[in-house]
Amino acid sequence: MQFPQELDPDKLPAHVAIIMDGNGRWAQQRGLPRPMGHQVGVESVQAVVRAARKLDLQVLTLYAFSTENWKRPPFEVNALMGLLKKYLLHELETMVANNVSLRCLGRKDRLPDDVRDILDKVIADTAGNDGLVFNLALNYGSRVEILDAVKTVAGQCANGELAADAITEELFAAHLYTGGLPDPDLLIRTGGEARLSNFLLWQASYAEICFVDTLWPDFREENLLDAIRVYQGRQRRFGMTGEQVRPA
Ligand code: FPP
Repeated sequence: MQFPQELDPDKLPAHVAIIMDGNGRWAQQRGLPRPMGHQVGVESVQAVVRAARKLDLQVLTLYAFSTENWKRPPFEVNALMGLLKKYLLHELETMVANNVSLRCLGRKDRLPDDVRDILDKVIADTAGNDGLVFNLALNYGSRVEILDAVKTVAGQCANGELAADAITEELFAAHLYTGGLPDPDLLIRTGGEARLSNFLLWQASYAEICFVDTLWPDFREENLLDAIRVYQGRQRRFGMTGEQVRPA
């Protein structure tokens, strides 16, 4: 891809996070079973990873399965796990070849053994790559993530390793699944809903949020570029005044 003329290469988000919503509705609108929406949604995942790589983004995070998604009918959960396994098997070589490093945000312990095995393999085989960091949020819940970090930090305080006064935002953030990575600059939710659904609640504190109506299976590179265009048109103030952050 040629760099899109109307995008400012110096103002790209370092980290884009996406809530991929609307798969079920996409399928239902066509009289298809909901898992068909997830299946076509995998094509959107492939397109967005490709675009993120071409744009040279630092981090891409996709919300693929939440801690609450286990409540869905078993046939849908099984279909999603099957798609994940197939996707990871299919993409392993491409990720290795394209210098992508896969990480998992979430507790892997509840994933089926075969999904966890291939996930661990892709993570291990791509660990040495230093290009795009691709986070898959799987069995992910932001509140559980925050609680896990609280428990780690509280344990260090209890055994005398750490003074409560020494707990800073940076120290705490280092214990989140995203430790060491920049916070998302741009958070996109597809499917027309306007909520965060327990996604990156700490990390998204200063993210620019873009709610788009496009259903995830229809989301392609152009839609990502549109969202980045919106992002580049926003003024990020981080609590300051417009005059303070406006370039002289
Ligand atoms: C939300 O749409 C989407 C999900 C719960 C799953 C997202 C999964 C994929 C795109 C495919 C598998 C992922 C990878 C990385 C291979 P929804 O079903 O809640 O849509 P609805 O709101 O229209 O019902």
